[in-house]
Amino acid sequence: MTAAIEPRSIPFFNYKGAFTAREDEYVAIFRDIIRRGAFIQQRDLIEFEQNLADYLGVKHAIGVANATDGLVMAWRAAGLHAGDEVIFPSHTMVASPASVAHAGGVPVPVDCGTDHLIDPDTIEAAITKRTKAIMPVQLNGRTANMDRIQQIADRHDLYIIEDSAQALGSRFKGRFAGTFGRAGVFSFYPAKILGCFGDGGAVVTNDDEIARNILLLRDHGRDESGEVVRWGLNSRLDNLQAAILDLQFRDYDSIINHRRMLAAHYHSSLNDLSEIQLPPAPDADSDHFDVYQNYEIQADRRDDLRKSLSEAGVGTIIQWGGKPVHQYSGLGFHRDLPNTDRLFQRCLMLPMNMMVSADDVEFIASRIRLFYRG
Ligand SMILES: Cc1ncc(COP(=O)(O)O)c(C=O)c1O
Repeated sequence: MTAAIEPRSIPFFNYKGAFTAREDEYVAIFRDIIRRGAFIQQRDLIEFEQNLADYLGVKHAIGVANATDGLVMAWRAAGLHAGDEVIFPSHTMVASPASVAHAGGVPVPVDCGTDHLIDPDTIEAAITKRTKAIMPVQLNGRTANMDRIQQIADRHDLYIIEDSAQALGSRFKGRFAGTFGRAGVFSFYPAKILGCFGDGGAVVTNDDEIARNILLLRDHGRDESGEVVRWGLNSRLDNLQAAILDLQFRDYDSIINHRRMLAAHYHSSLNDLSEIQLPPAPDADSDHFDVYQNYEIQADRRDDLRKSLSEAGVGTIIQWGGKPVHQYSGLGFHRDLPNTDRLFQRCLMLPMNMMVSADDVEFIASRIRLFYRG
């Protein structure tokens, strides 16, 4: 007989815990910046942008209000024209295709592979005379096989913009997510690995012309002299948010290591269960360095498992309300994407953040084992 396991409280995300762990440092930042009245485009933003660019090894990192705006501006800066088609994986947030639509383009969804990312095998069949670009979404802190995607792009004269909202620090063959295409975009939404106290994002690029345009677009189309040279937005990253991000960024490597340690624990505790499919383990192959923005499994009887974990005090999430983008027929999609459809019937994200311990993972794993094996 299995011994009873006491419930405990492991929320999916613990914003309060994340704040109180560094409360004094955060409060010192608020006090300093508010006393200086340094709210918009001040040195804290410039320093954070420089640190981000240095970390990624790119020429330009530009703070923006959120990743959705960052993507819209990236498409506009890259010169997407009305009617241009962009291929993207349907296993993503609606922000990815919305950015294409807002820039005047037509988003074309394709299927995902077993690692939940865009399946390169599905891209070529979706290419038409109007296709101009591919938008890989580097989901859950993992980078797609960019060699294969780049080969397809080269063969068909397409360019790449990466939605790397979920993948800061993730690498493929040693190269960072967000640095493969003409531009890459990151999100600093509070639940992101690097998350601020509200909305935030960044666009990174090695292309001077794209960078110049993002700088214009994020600030009402104004150049350094204040002259308005194109239609722009108000989409700047707040100075206060940049300072908070910069503080967290100093520890970014250890934050990633913690998440990889948790992933390794999940893997060793659950890998033998045939009812669930786990993400690749941290050391699964040398091409990928995953940062586990999310720990997304696939599970038989997913909804019952979720209920059982909730009764044990474990918070879980089904990404994007359990509906892939191509199922929103109101957005004009009429596609059959069997892998993505199946994934959304089975996917479940387990707790994965700095407040979760290895012991918590052992507890969660024991509850999952109990659910399937009694
Ligand atoms: C894959 C993906 N793309 C884009 C976004 C949009 O990011 P933001 O909320 O910063 O606009 C998100 C946000 O979670 C995301 O997960």
